This record gives sequence, structure tokens and C-alpha cells, in this order.
Amino acid sequence: MRRIQVGIVGAGPAGLLLAHLLRQEGVEAVVLEAKSREYLETSPHRIRAGVLEHGAKEILRRAGVGDRMLARGLGHKGIYLGFDGQLLHLDFETLVGKGIWVYGQQYLVQDLIRHHLGVGGEVLFEHEAVDLEDLHTPNPTLVYRTPEGRIGRLRCEFVVAADGSHSSFRRFIPGQRVHEKVYPFAWLGILAEAPPAAEELIYASHPQGFALFSMRSPSLSRNYLQVDPRERLEDWPEERIWEELNLRLGGAAEIRPGPLLEKSLTPMRAWVVEPLHSGRFFVMGDAGHVVPPTGAKGLNLALCDVAVLYRAMCAFYKEGEAHLLDRYTQDVLRHVWQAELFSYWMTTLLHTLRDPFEERLRVAKLRHLAESPLLQGFLAENYVGLHTTVRYVDLIPVQP
Ligand code: PHB
Repeated sequence: MRRIQVGIVGAGPAGLLLAHLLRQEGVEAVVLEAKSREYLETSPHRIRAGVLEHGAKEILRRAGVGDRMLARGLGHKGIYLGFDGQLLHLDFETLVGKGIWVYGQQYLVQDLIRHHLGVGGEVLFEHEAVDLEDLHTPNPTLVYRTPEGRIGRLRCEFVVAADGSHSSFRRFIPGQRVHEKVYPFAWLGILAEAPPAAEELIYASHPQGFALFSMRSPSLSRNYLQVDPRERLEDWPEERIWEELNLRLGGAAEIRPGPLLEKSLTPMRAWVVEPLHSGRFFVMGDAGHVVPPTGAKGLNLALCDVAVLYRAMCAFYKEGEAHLLDRYTQDVLRHVWQAELFSYWMTTLLHTLRDPFEERLRVAKLRHLAESPLLQGFLAENYVGLHTTVRYVDLIPVQP
């Protein structure tokens, strides 16, 4: 049976970045991915959020995978809040001295694959991890199925599950609890060949519901509408979507429609699994915790997990120190709950609520925010991640 040091399930941003960083330290990591490389790089279903915190951008740059992200990504100083028919600009650079970076997740995955394979890293595409054996021994073993249907095994020193929100591997954490919150909304999302509504993101609150105006490039818009979770996509033809988007902007800006490339419905949920490790098995990113998309935290949190596990594994392999591995759950939950709190705060600030009392409280909160530099500072420091990724940037050595 083949022996390796670290077996990673899932070639998303977290799994790939961890493999890449470990390789730079001489630790052999193999990534198992059920899908093909082509699917990961081109599937339109993978047009994921594209907001990188200041620190997340720095982590990627230091890791040596940021060349295209820096060339093609868009630096934003802040965001707009739209409500009461006006646009309020929150300038994060003035409020907290840092901005954000907009770059689609699927481009980042392409970059990570290219860089990792380019230095001889190993990603086994179309290899589905199906089981985990000998979990509580020094050599947990990954069982996988090859594209030809044969069963193979990798005897590892550590196994990491980074297989996304539908993770089939997190079930191997014994005695886990799941803390869950189901929000009573869904997001109807579109990707369109149309210029974005503004040069920065607009989070718009309207009595009829929340709308978000984001982008992937100067000619590709990514917009979302708050809808009831029971809505069906068929009931939202193109014209209805554009009308509703314009209505919810409340006249504060105008958007020009363009051909739709994709349309999707996402229920809003949050959950956190506890613990996030057991023995030599670790869970990272969406496989272990999910936030509603309002705060744009999902990808950033996954990168925080990578930094924590990378530091702990380096301490183990270089100094024989295991205590940071033992603290993995504790260290990760700190940034996870910070982000759950902010995502909850943003979600309940911006989405129209059914309960009339709570809805009036919400509007009062929004108006207070518009007048209070202190509240704006709270939003800004959370949005740019002063308490999450920025804390971890120094853990990542700068690659030439
Ligand atoms: C996106 O561009 O897809 C996006 C941006 C900001 C969010 C959520 C999604 O809060």
C-alpha cells in the first residue's frame, strides 16, 4: 500500500492551498478529487463568491499563487449600502485602513491547480474518496475509487476533509454536534453579461426584499434577490428578475439588463460542526462550517482554517510539537464564530423580515448605521477581516 504524509479529500481552494503550502515545506500531500479537472475549472455551477478579505489576498500572494489574482482582480475600497432611495458609501480604507479584493472563486481554483501541478504537486482527479480506515491509529488510511472503478488505499499520517458543504467525510468525526440556523430566505442569483450597477458592490435594502449587486469583471454582473425559500426558478423569467432588481435599487442607481449566463436558488443556512478534528483527522472549510453569503465570508474562513492547520502541521513535522494539532478545533472555532456573528448581523440588517416589530427594529438599525461612524467601523473591520485572515497572514512564508 502506498504511504504518504497528508491525504486531502477535495480539490477546492482550501484543500489545494494546504497541499501547496505543505509541499513548499517538503511535506508530501496528495489531493483526491471526485470530479474531473475540466469540471472544476469550467462548470458554470461553480461561479462562487468572489470577495477576498485583505488578509486572504495577502495569504494567496505570499503562497505564490496570486499572480493572476493581482493582475485580473478588482481592488475595492468599500461597499455601498442602498436604502430609502439613496446610496451610502462605506469607505473601508478610511474607516479601518484596508480594502477588499474581488476575484471569482473558480478562477482561484484554476490558479491553485496550475501552480500546484506546475511544481510537481499531486492531485488525483476523478478519484473518489469513499472511506476512512484506522482513524484512531498513527496511520489513518484513505480508501478511494479510481476512474476505472478499482479500489485503492493511501496510508497517511494525517487525513484532511476539505470536500465542501456536502462533505461525505465529516461523518467520520465521532460524537460530533451540529449547531444550525435556518434563515427564512433564499437568494436567487444571476450571472449576466451586463456592466455592474456600480464600480463597487451595492447591498440594497428595500421593503420588498434585499438585493445585492456584485460582479466578476467590468462586463460580468453577479446579482442576487432575497426570495422566499419556497419560490421556484421557473417563476422568475429574465424580465421579472431585472424589474425586481431595479425596483429594489429604489432609484439610487440604474442597471442595464444583459443576457443571463446562469440562474440559481440558494437557501440561506448556517451551521458549525463541533469538534472539527479527531485524532489525526481534520475537517476544513465548508465541510465543517457554513455561513449565509451576506457577509461574503465562506472562502475567507476556509483560508483561515488552512493557515491554522498549516502552522500546526509545520510545528509537528519540524519540531515534533503536537500541541497545535490538538488545539485545531478551538483555534478554528474562534474565527468561525466571529464570522457567523458578522454574517448573522449583516443578514438580519439587510433582509426584509416577516415579523412587523422586528422589521421596524431592522430599519432603525440601518438608519443608525447610516449616521454612526462607530457602527460603520464595526461593519468595516468585519468585512475586511481584521479579526480573521489578517491575524494569519504572518504564518504564511513569502514565496519568491
Ligand atoms: C458574489 O459576488 O457572489 C457575492 C458578493 C458578496 C456577497 C455574496 C456574494 O456578500
